[in-house]
Amino acid sequence: MSAASKFDDHMLSLALARVAEEAAIACMGMIGRGDEKAADQAAVNAMREQLNLLDIKGVVVIGEGERDEAPMLYIGEEVGSGNGPGVDIALDPLEGTTLTAKAMPNALTVISMAPRGTMLHAPDVYMDKLAVGPGYAKDVVSLDMSPKERVEALAKAKGVKPSEITVCILERPRHEDMIAEVRGTGASIHLITDGDVAGVMHCAEAETTGIDMYMGSGGAPEGVLAAGALKCMGGQIWGRLLFRNDDERGRAAKAGITDLDQIYARDDMVRDDVIFAATGVTKGSILNGLKRVDGAVETETLLLRSATGESRRVTCRFPGR
Ligand code: FBP
Repeated sequence: MSAASKFDDHMLSLALARVAEEAAIACMGMIGRGDEKAADQAAVNAMREQLNLLDIKGVVVIGEGERDEAPMLYIGEEVGSGNGPGVDIALDPLEGTTLTAKAMPNALTVISMAPRGTMLHAPDVYMDKLAVGPGYAKDVVSLDMSPKERVEALAKAKGVKPSEITVCILERPRHEDMIAEVRGTGASIHLITDGDVAGVMHCAEAETTGIDMYMGSGGAPEGVLAAGALKCMGGQIWGRLLFRNDDERGRAAKAGITDLDQIYARDDMVRDDVIFAATGVTKGSILNGLKRVDGAVETETLLLRSATGESRRVTCRFPGR
């Protein structure tokens, strides 16, 4: 294996597309049916089945939950044939269960892979997140700045007025003060109802999406997935775990986390080369959703590889599905 291919990422990135595609196709009949759980289960089953076909010694690092909560794709589950490179796997078989159940935009299937022991084992708690696209200095904004300071700093770095900055935020009551403060700067806010992996990814393609910065709290596992995507696409993300009670602090301890206040930069969450695949379930601003075309199901998948910066958009037709 060459130095540029530490875990056969060259070949596995293509295999990852199939895993993400099959999980998405499994959700097709669940779009707009109002059943989040069934949609998620369909994606989980398909993703696990496909993963087990791969020649890897995989361990799920970011998955469906702790072993006692999730029967499949739980944290620590070993997947793959057991032959091949040892890899960490971060996945969200359906990122946007509610988006799928309500047929709303930007539901994705997401999976990423990196050499064994290189991804943050983030507990299932909230994470305060902040992300920007490529081309900015490493300290352009920080989690320690107020929302207003972040907008002003990014506007200065971009050479525009604060009113020309667009921030993406998850619409939640807990974000009301943040939203008011960002609005006070004159910046525009792109509110999303769910799906902050896509929310963060928007920053990497600011010219297309119009979104310069992501901020707010959401799932920590989704933070690691988003870090993997930005490591391939370019851009920075910072995350700090948020704990609401002792049970959540216990989850962190179980995951081996001792400094509960640590700020994780992108490369602290994903410490080595990573490959990433996301397939659109419902049409969104980054990917097309599933479509029926001439008796086939058509998928669109974004396939990324950090070692080379490769970025593929794979459209695939599956006849008879
Ligand atoms: P699901 O796909 O598991 O429903 O998660 C969607 C999501 O919006 C994530 O993208 C986000 O990180 C998290 O939920 C936010 O959590 P909450 O809904 O509790 O604010």
